[in-house]
Amino acid sequence: MAGGKGFVAVFDSGLGGISVLRRLVDVLPHEDFVYVGDSAHNPYGERSPSQILSLSRQIVGELVREGAKAVVIACNTATSVAAATLRRELSTIPIVGVEPALKPATEHDPHRRILVMATPVTLRLDKYQQLAKAYGSDSEVISVPCAGLAKRIEQGGLDEADLREMISSLVGRYRGTVDSVVLGCTHYPFVARQIREVVGDVPFFDGANGVTHRLKSLLSKDHALAKDDAAGSVTLRSSLNDPKVLERYRRFLKMEL
Ligand code: DGL
Repeated sequence: MAGGKGFVAVFDSGLGGISVLRRLVDVLPHEDFVYVGDSAHNPYGERSPSQILSLSRQIVGELVREGAKAVVIACNTATSVAAATLRRELSTIPIVGVEPALKPATEHDPHRRILVMATPVTLRLDKYQQLAKAYGSDSEVISVPCAGLAKRIEQGGLDEADLREMISSLVGRYRGTVDSVVLGCTHYPFVARQIREVVGDVPFFDGANGVTHRLKSLLSKDHALAKDDAAGSVTLRSSLNDPKVLERYRRFLKMEL
């Protein structure tokens, strides 16, 4: 691909992927990004794989027809279900997915107890089982399916008591007993502080750095990075036709974490 024309599409089941978008914009400030959150169908992590594949296929297909030069699936759940299939079907542009950051967590500190929080679908699928086998063999990996958490984060109000209670009931029993935490759903970095208050002050890992480096190296290899003589742009879209939802996306994009 020549000259870096076209935009980078970033897609998630809702606003979680904005945690990845923030890192992408930091590292690639000259790119034009179009973010699509499928808030109308959130949460993906409690849907069937065939539904997730068909929702992902539709959104990614439209973005490619619109002129995306690369697609970032900023959703662990959709990556587990759909990334390999979409790469086969749309082989003309790079499709980069996100996965629970077990590799960086185990490299940082092997032989430790690692708590992995992710959606039920992500943890159930083969892709995660293989990842845990590949990187978790020297560590003790505790995988906790966090049903309901992404959906609750999607609603905002991140300092409200019910959200804290939900986090406590999901992972409170691991307080002081784990050495690191992997946030295996892109919604969770928005409540990293609240999770830390429940679990303890240990290192946290998420997949945003990995995705960002992968995208940068693929665009660079294809000579498709945007020219560095102008600032890039960010366009936010949601499948939920509600101005309040887009306003929340904008807030999450700027939120101090
Ligand atoms: N943000 C998504 C992920 O990384 C999933 C949230 C959902 O269940 O829709 O897995």
